[in-house]
Amino acid sequence: MLFDLKPKEHREELFDREEEYEELKRLVDSGLWVAVVGKRMTGKTSLLKTFANENNGIYVNLLGARSIEGLVRKLAAESGFKLDEVSLDLRFIQVKWSRVLEDVFARIKNRVIALDEVQEVSSHYFLKVLKSVWDKYRGVKIVFSGSYVGILRRLLEPSPASPLYGRKPAKLLLKPFSRELSKKFLENGFRENPRVRVRSEEIEEAVDRLNGYVGWLTYYGNFRCVRRLSHEEALRETVNEGSKIILEELENFLKGRRRELYVKTLRTVSNGARWSEVKKTLNANSKVVKIVLETLCSAMIVEEKEGYYWIEDPIIKEAVRRMK
Ligand SMILES: Nc1ncnc2c1ncn2[C@@H]1O[C@H](COP(=O)(O)OP(=O)(O)OP(=O)(O)O)[C@@H](O)[C@H]1O
Ligand SMILES: [Mg+2]
Repeated sequence: MLFDLKPKEHREELFDREEEYEELKRLVDSGLWVAVVGKRMTGKTSLLKTFANENNGIYVNLLGARSIEGLVRKLAAESGFKLDEVSLDLRFIQVKWSRVLEDVFARIKNRVIALDEVQEVSSHYFLKVLKSVWDKYRGVKIVFSGSYVGILRRLLEPSPASPLYGRKPAKLLLKPFSRELSKKFLENGFRENPRVRVRSEEIEEAVDRLNGYVGWLTYYGNFRCVRRLSHEEALRETVNEGSKIILEELENFLKGRRRELYVKTLRTVSNGARWSEVKKTLNANSKVVKIVLETLCSAMIVEEKEGYYWIEDPIIKEAVRRMK
């Protein structure tokens, strides 16, 4: 069902994304490692899971893994073998988890390994293991995804000091759907639920309000068809639930950063603003303004074109409005 809230796992459940799927296949088949990137709710996990499923791959969600050990344990569990059969290292009291991870990669080297939420696994050390796997076992096929803020950025834009310098994965960008595709997505979803009456103006309004973010469109459809809410209620609930999720994520993102500067910037650019307006609002020097804006852009929260900044995702806008 198109309006199912769980990530999709099979090709026939996946709406559109044929091109991206084929491109992913082409890149993986040509021996490259690939990072699937995109904003929140653009369907990264669905593409990854479907790809792994359809290609005898292994999908691992690293949420909560936190360390190489966590990654090793999850990977072994998902690929269905016992760790002590794979690695002699486990007999030692001081287990070297990086070595165990290499053994695990070597063992499953002919299958695609899809690692989602990679930002959960600690950074430099993990990159070093990846380098070593890349150098020793060229047959290992890895597809990464997750939030761009964390390790994905270090994977895709490695500095000269990074172990992955010169070995960066190919990047596959998932864009939000166009207006036409978003409408078609909703129409197809409602067609699967003929008992729910929907008017074309409602579909138009939902797409106006939620843009081409397939995740938010799915929420709206689900609220209407499963929870049987009215159009207005479903829209309100989608914005409500969605902005709660984003608000939490924004707050996490701001931890350890100069929160008040970021919040001010987010408020200023929410409906679009030029660099000079942001500088004026922040009352800070150009270097600080530059860092704040660049950080927000590279986290895919804020868009930029020719010195003009804005927030595209209506749910992020709402979350910013609710920030205290
Ligand atoms: N191509 C698609 N066809 C149908 N439904 C989809 C598609 N892509 C995503 N969805 C639906 O949208 C929702 C969000 O999808 P998914 O979790 O794959 O996105 P994501 O980009 O990984 O999100 P997040 O940013 O939270 O990690 C889910 O309910 C999923 O079922
Ligand atoms: Mg995801």
